Amino acid sequence: MDALIHPSILSADFANLAAELERVADADMVHVDVMDAHFVPNLTLGLPVVERLVAVSPRPLDVHLMVTDADRWAPPYAELGAASVTIHAEASQAPIRTARELRRLGVRAGLALRPATPVEPFLPLLAEIDMLLVMTVEPGFGGQSFLDSMLPKIRTARQAIREQDLDVWIQVDGGVSEETVARAAEAGANVMVAGSAVYGASDAGAEIARLRKLAGAHLH
Ligand code: DX5
Ligand code: ZN
Repeated sequence: MDALIHPSILSADFANLAAELERVADADMVHVDVMDAHFVPNLTLGLPVVERLVAVSPRPLDVHLMVTDADRWAPPYAELGAASVTIHAEASQAPIRTARELRRLGVRAGLALRPATPVEPFLPLLAEIDMLLVMTVEPGFGGQSFLDSMLPKIRTARQAIREQDLDVWIQVDGGVSEETVARAAEAGANVMVAGSAVYGASDAGAEIARLRKLAGAHLH
């Protein structure tokens, strides 16, 4: 398994998104944070903007929905061409039904957990999803510090995925940097979201390569 690097455009210049997508053309996918000012105390962008991002991005989009009523809002992002759509477990009444709908629409189905949400109730659902997103900060803002207290949650999920013989990605999002990425990989995460680390670097491509190498060395 290779480590995948998904830069988050939350830390990009929102006035120049097409150029900011070009800066991360070496990424595996680009992470797009959709926030509704209800599920999280911040507001970013929605369907019309993401539709344009899909049209101009050199890389596929990984949409992270931080919105209430996730079951209603997820399918339209699949229909407009995102490669992966992740809903929050805390915002979904019917995560299995929504995951099945996303897969039917031909996209990867992701399920995200806030830091205070335990993973154990979701282990029986792993076969229904393509990616588990373990938040390593409280969702809402970039630039926060990585929560090492989430590492056991990643380990528990990776062990369950192995035991069930599944091919489910584990994504970490929040505070991922050259300092923390190895710990996330060692615990079992293989998809690294990095906002401020990548967009704050003078050479975003070089930073992506460094993160990929550091993570790859600790995956097992
Ligand atoms: C936070 C978002 C993250 C954010 C990460 O709610 O989900 O994707 O962009 O930013 P950094 O990498 O700066 O912690
Ligand atoms: Zn995110």
